[in-house]
Amino acid sequence: MAAQVRAQGRVPAFTPKDERIEDLPEGPGRDETFGMCTACHGYKLVADQGMTRDKWDETLTWMTERHGMPDIQGTDRDLILDYLATHHPPKAPAGAGGFRNPFAPQ
Ligand code: HEC
Repeated sequence: MAAQVRAQGRVPAFTPKDERIEDLPEGPGRDETFGMCTACHGYKLVADQGMTRDKWDETLTWMTERHGMPDIQGTDRDLILDYLATHHPPKAPAGAGGFRNPFAPQ
């Protein structure tokens, strides 16, 4: 169970089952983004990144072309891109204090 893994203080590399949607920042597109991206890997892999909307767009294309993610287009893509760009924007330089990791211990 997730709680036990956390209690041991270990964070395995790929732990989709250990992540809950409630851990993600709230906002439009959260369900869609979490559902889509955790089909293959932990959301942490996504949350560790910080990009502009354009770069997220490229990442989605890359996931589709390279890794076989469904080719999402139209409003669904907009929803996911908006979510990613809003909650995972380019990180501030280290030390500037602008970035808050949603998975960091509270
Ligand atoms: C069909 C499977 C699949 C889906 C769905 C998927 N990915 Fe991925 N993704 C991968 C694979 C495979 C990797 C490579 C993992 C590795 O580096 O070991 C990856 C890696 C990544 C990385 C890491 C890139 C890096 O530089 O390390 C990011 C960011 C990412 N995915 C974003 C997303 C986002 C955002 C979504 C949801 C919109 C998503 N992925 C959905 C398969 C998928």
